[in-house]
Amino acid sequence: MAQPTARSSASERRQSVRTGVVWDGVRRLLEADVADGQPARIVDIGGGTGGFAVPLAELGHAVQVIDPSPDALASLDRRARERGVADRVTGQQGDLSDLSDLVDEVDLVLCHGVLEMVEDPAASLASIAGVLRPGGHLSLLVAQRHAAVVARAMAGHFQAARELLDDVPHRPAGGSADGQAGQAGPVGRSGRRFTHDEVVDLLAGAGLSPESVHAVRVFADLVPGSLLDLEPGATAALVELEKAVATRPEYLPLAAQLHVTARR
Ligand SMILES: C[S@@+](CC[C@H](N)C(=O)[O-])C[C@H]1O[C@@H](n2cnc3c(N)ncnc32)[C@H](O)[C@@H]1O
Repeated sequence: MAQPTARSSASERRQSVRTGVVWDGVRRLLEADVADGQPARIVDIGGGTGGFAVPLAELGHAVQVIDPSPDALASLDRRARERGVADRVTGQQGDLSDLSDLVDEVDLVLCHGVLEMVEDPAASLASIAGVLRPGGHLSLLVAQRHAAVVARAMAGHFQAARELLDDVPHRPAGGSADGQAGQAGPVGRSGRRFTHDEVVDLLAGAGLSPESVHAVRVFADLVPGSLLDLEPGATAALVELEKAVATRPEYLPLAAQLHVTARR
């Protein structure tokens, strides 16, 4: 993904702040995982309009995007053609629960901003593990609960903050010690939120070993957009700040999202 410049649009600048840390993580996975010059087989589940899929195809990888939204897939198709990578990006209408029917064995699965919306996060992660080759990786991006509680409270939505605080924990597939089946907390209008420990438990339940956790959007949502639009160099400096705090555990609870990589 391109670095922000003075000529980037306002939306490109904000996007670079939101995705800089995640891109670095995905790039590291590919460097570690794929032999030099070999294209990786990648699935982007809920990949939407191709914000990650198209740049990954530009790096030479073969990317299959699965998404239930026909509109998102149409935008993906347009974007892939415009960037000259339509031969390396395939869009397919489908759902995380159909994954095993739609995908052969792959090197890397991206699941960014999707686990919040599915019926059963534990079963979804088990499906993802089922299509990864042994040693393959998952790049998982999920909304983080503690920051969302603070954001709601600061916006004056105290009841919503209180409800989110007591959200039901997400049990790994296979059930809990008391024999209950894997369950997840209620899905609100904007989806579920997860804590770091819940994500780690869910991954372990699916047979995936977490390798790295990064804090994403620690400051990005708190900084006024006008500051990035008006202050020269502010976007690049904020991207660097986000990267600097991403690996510090004390900033994890403040992050709007967690980026977790895990190995099968
Ligand atoms: C918040 S967007 C994230 C898009 C993209 N992954 C990104 O990071 O920019 C969530 C995407 O998940 C898709 N989605 C929603 N429910 C899904 C499901 N059950 N299985 C797969 N994708 C789903 C939506 O259509 C949407 O494109």
